[in-house]
Amino acid sequence: MLRVTRRREEGQETVPKPERHVLVCLNTRPPGNPKGSCGEKGSETLFEHLKAMVKGRGLGERVIVNRTSCLKHCSRGITVAVYPENVWYAGVKEADLGEICSAHLEEGRPLARLLMPDIPWE
Ligand code: FES
Repeated sequence: MLRVTRRREEGQETVPKPERHVLVCLNTRPPGNPKGSCGEKGSETLFEHLKAMVKGRGLGERVIVNRTSCLKHCSRGITVAVYPENVWYAGVKEADLGEICSAHLEEGRPLARLLMPDIPWE
C-alpha cells in the first residue's frame, strides 16, 4: 500500500486492481481421510492450468488466480470461488476450465451447471 501511494505521489502509473479474483482450494488431507480433499482430486494441477489459461487468453491483468486452503466444501471439490460475484463452483475438472474462462471470466456469465449447492460448511 505504501508503495502504491509513493508511486502516485511521483505521478507514475499504478498497478490496476483485478476485475475478478479466483480462489482454488489446494488443501490436501491424507488418503483415506473421510472428509476427502481437493488436493487429492488434483487441484494443484488444475490451479496451474487455470493460471496458464488465464494468462494465455490475455486475462492476466483482469483476473488473479490464487491458491487457498480449505474452502469448507471438501466432499464437493475441487472447490473454486470467483469474486466479486461470490460464485462458488463444485467438482471442477480440467475439462471445465475453458468454459469457466470464456463464459465467466471473459463474459461475466457464471456456469449454472457447476454451481455449488447451497449446503452447510463441512
Ligand atoms: S479440501 Fe477443498 S474445500 Fe475443503
